[in-house]
Amino acid sequence: MITFYCFNFTHYKNNSLKTQDIYILGIESSCDDTAAAVMHNGRVLSNVVANQKIHEEYGGVVPELASRAHQQNIVPVVHQALRKANIDKKQLSAIAFTQGPGLMGSLLVGTSFSKSLAMGLGIPLISVNHMQAHILAHFIKDEAQTTPSFPFIALTISGGHTQIVKVDDYFRMEILGETIDDAVGEAFDKSAKILGLPYPGGPLIDKYAQHGDPTAFSFPKPKVGDLEFSFSGLKTAVLYFVERETAKDPHFIEENLHNICASLQFTIVDYLMDKLKNAVVKTGINRIAIGGGVSANSGIRKALKNAEKELGWTTYIPKFEYCTDNAAMIAIVGELKYLNGDFSKQNVVATARMKLS
Ligand code: KG4
Ligand code: ZN
Repeated sequence: MITFYCFNFTHYKNNSLKTQDIYILGIESSCDDTAAAVMHNGRVLSNVVANQKIHEEYGGVVPELASRAHQQNIVPVVHQALRKANIDKKQLSAIAFTQGPGLMGSLLVGTSFSKSLAMGLGIPLISVNHMQAHILAHFIKDEAQTTPSFPFIALTISGGHTQIVKVDDYFRMEILGETIDDAVGEAFDKSAKILGLPYPGGPLIDKYAQHGDPTAFSFPKPKVGDLEFSFSGLKTAVLYFVERETAKDPHFIEENLHNICASLQFTIVDYLMDKLKNAVVKTGINRIAIGGGVSANSGIRKALKNAEKELGWTTYIPKFEYCTDNAAMIAIVGELKYLNGDFSKQNVVATARMKLS
């Protein structure tokens, strides 16, 4: 009797919320992109990202410079997101922001800004886990992407993380395996730096790889647990390989850039696919979704499409603009939490090492 009554109440509560117009402002500032997005009932009205060019000359993100740039960018970025969405801030239902994981100085900017704005407008504040947002980006309503059904396996591949996650529901996720050292994005970026390419090098390796031979050189695939990853050895292997070859021929990199990039990308993608195959065998789930900046990589996208044909998997690849850091993914988690009435208090704190669940 009690169960029946509770069910009815929840049903009523969710239905009443679903019929109303929900406008969520999402704010993302976990690393070096300042981003704001406005979402209306699951659809993106605006999605603004300010990249920080300053890090290019240092070959990687400098945390202190990142937080200063967020301070400069956050007000104009939010203004632009509201203007593009063509709504007034008074129409907002709630503010969702990245609580973690990420760089503390960067997270503090978005967290403090979001708290103040939510308090000023008298609307709910919703904290969001950045990695969960990369996964739930698949639930943004957009003609260019399909929504996975539960349960599915998510491969989250970014500059800070490499994880295989079993996703049972929006808010029930279990990490099955992750990297024991560097993230895959770091492997791309650090290898690119060794090749003399600017930060972030991942997209450049991808670009040069398109015109190279993936079998030209071979790099080792690190051996760790079935669902674990390791990338620090690969970076060292690239360094020794380049040192050895440039000692023989000082022009080795220029003359072989496309082939080096293609071979490196082939090794990384093959390694990621090996791990996904292990996860499918272990869980019996063959619905695979990818997320995070590295999911923009053409090699992994192609490998997943092939796996549909060859292995019978169903794969979900997010729209390009929802792969790398963005605030639309924060807004969709905000909306899902809003529907659950899952709000944060004003004493919520930025959490650099935030766990997924
Ligand atoms: O998710 P993201 O934007 O930020 C983090 O949360 O880390 O991921 C950034 C990472 C960088 O390492 C960048 O080099 C990598 O994603 N990346 C790529 C590509 N586009 C972005 N790596 C390989 N191929 C790409 N096309
Ligand atoms: Zn990210």
